[in-house]
Amino acid sequence: MCGIIGFTGTGDARGIILDGLKRLEYRGYDSAGIAIQRNNEINMVKAQGKVDNLVNLAVANDKLIGTCGIGHTRWATHGIPNDINAHPHMSEDGKFAIVHNGIIENQAEIKEKLLKKGMTFKSETDTEVMVQLLSFNYNGDIKKAIMKTVSEVTGSYGIGVLCTDNPGVIYAAKVASPLIIGIGVGENYFGSDITAFINHTKNVIDLDDNELAEIHKDKVIIYDYKGEEIKKEIRKVTWDIAAAEKSGYEHFMIKEIMEQPAAIKATIEPRIKNGKIDFDELNLDILKYNRVLITACGSAYYAGCVGKLVIEKLARLHVSMDVASELRYSDPMIDEETLVIVVSQSGETADTIAAIKEAKSKGATVLAIVNVVGSTIAKLSDYVIYTWAGPEIAVATTKGYTTQVAVFYMFAVWAAKKLNKIDDKQLEEYTNIIKHLPERAQRALDLNAKVKTLADKYYHNKSIFFIGRYFDYAVCLEGSLKLKEISYIHSEAYAAGELKHGTIALIDEGRLVVAACCYEPLLDKIISNIQQVKARGAEVLALAMEDNKKIFKEADDVLLVPKTNELFMSLVEIIPLQLFAYYVAKNNKCDIDKPKNLAKSVTVE
Ligand code: F6R
Repeated sequence: MCGIIGFTGTGDARGIILDGLKRLEYRGYDSAGIAIQRNNEINMVKAQGKVDNLVNLAVANDKLIGTCGIGHTRWATHGIPNDINAHPHMSEDGKFAIVHNGIIENQAEIKEKLLKKGMTFKSETDTEVMVQLLSFNYNGDIKKAIMKTVSEVTGSYGIGVLCTDNPGVIYAAKVASPLIIGIGVGENYFGSDITAFINHTKNVIDLDDNELAEIHKDKVIIYDYKGEEIKKEIRKVTWDIAAAEKSGYEHFMIKEIMEQPAAIKATIEPRIKNGKIDFDELNLDILKYNRVLITACGSAYYAGCVGKLVIEKLARLHVSMDVASELRYSDPMIDEETLVIVVSQSGETADTIAAIKEAKSKGATVLAIVNVVGSTIAKLSDYVIYTWAGPEIAVATTKGYTTQVAVFYMFAVWAAKKLNKIDDKQLEEYTNIIKHLPERAQRALDLNAKVKTLADKYYHNKSIFFIGRYFDYAVCLEGSLKLKEISYIHSEAYAAGELKHGTIALIDEGRLVVAACCYEPLLDKIISNIQQVKARGAEVLALAMEDNKKIFKEADDVLLVPKTNELFMSLVEIIPLQLFAYYVAKNNKCDIDKPKNLAKSVTVE
């Protein structure tokens, strides 16, 4: 969602901030803006639509030449996407400019109070309310004014502030919305995530909730909200710039699909010791729990769907599932004996954060499977397993999902051994299968040169069904989401046996049905489902193990999946579906990395 960058130094703030905003485009946005401080005044430019619109305006504006400023990409929450509602917002007196991620819940009351004091407002945003409140609270001490302001608002915020009385200084503060400070040489940054400034520095300080950063070009001072200075550690980010750039690929999504073998390897390898999966670093006593609940959103939830099946199958622990946006309001049946596993690539998803708080309030232990180090979800959880996928820039997750599935496999095998459901020999056998998954993933990529041709054949379909059973069904859920979110083609995933209970009414001449047929114990069952849909005129694109001869007689076309143990095949099986979605979207000329209406990190409810 919204992106923030701030810079102070001796270089060209306008160029650095505009470049940072381009790097933040992946988060999803509908307008952008920049404010530069110079000669005790602040000038700003804002534009609806793409960052390029802003760049055109900003480079032509000499008032934006300076060495200190802030920038923002906005994903509308309060007020429509237009130039006026775009950030930064300036106080009426021109003294302050602010960029803001998050939502101020009591903005209406504050606005009413300020209107009564004679203040006026140009936009419909909660952010303008915040900057006006800041100006109202100011009597010469900017830090005190920010602290007073944040104490009066409820909700979530990550803010960046400029003040004409403090040239060359940028201020940042946060509650429940990420902000990271970048430490350079003679210049410093802040950003809503590291990609905003990773081309300048990899040394960062994670700002925590209720902390205020005063950022000069040559020093950074962090205060708590009582005004006491606090010492914070500088952390070195291991991602490199290439990881956040396209490196010759046409889209981030295809680059990230191709990166999966390496990402899965990075996730798996450090957790194998002496030929066995080893999660002892976690210090988690799995014997304490009589059930597991998995919660997450979107693809992360679908990774959990695979996780549930493999944990139940191997560790024989009861696992229930709930999407995070529902769990928070459903008074879930969880207690001290429940291990709640939350899954999140970004670590910042608002619904998942709320689910963690709900789970903890009921005494449950929370284990997070997260990609972004130091993210809110990682900090809030009792235990964390990082996925080590590297930065994921395309809005549609690919390597984020497969590395989450890889963690579930390892966790299931590890828990099964701890619970005495498997013996040493099985532990070694399963570990060996998991260890070779990166090679299987590579083979899935190599085998699927044909996917593009199939996408050429099927991209014009208006509605596509995905069917499968058991592990295959879990993969269909993700395959269908991948297709619809980037190609805008309607698609639904069905447990194959459910079709006949209603949905088969929609199967008619020429309808494309993607049938996942990789779980061999149920092959005959899914073949019957294929015959049922074919009898009604559907075209069938099967997803099958490469040695499955039977399927060629049943389906119109086949996407091949490298032979993999049936308990651990979902991770490999999704890859042809990711590629299929990608090429279908490409043929339909969709904005693949930034699908309409979507945001990478969903930080609002
Ligand atoms: C789909 C996708 C989303 C996310 C979901 C959760 O491709 O990326 O469905 O999986 O918004 O996001 P995280 O994993 O960041 O919590």
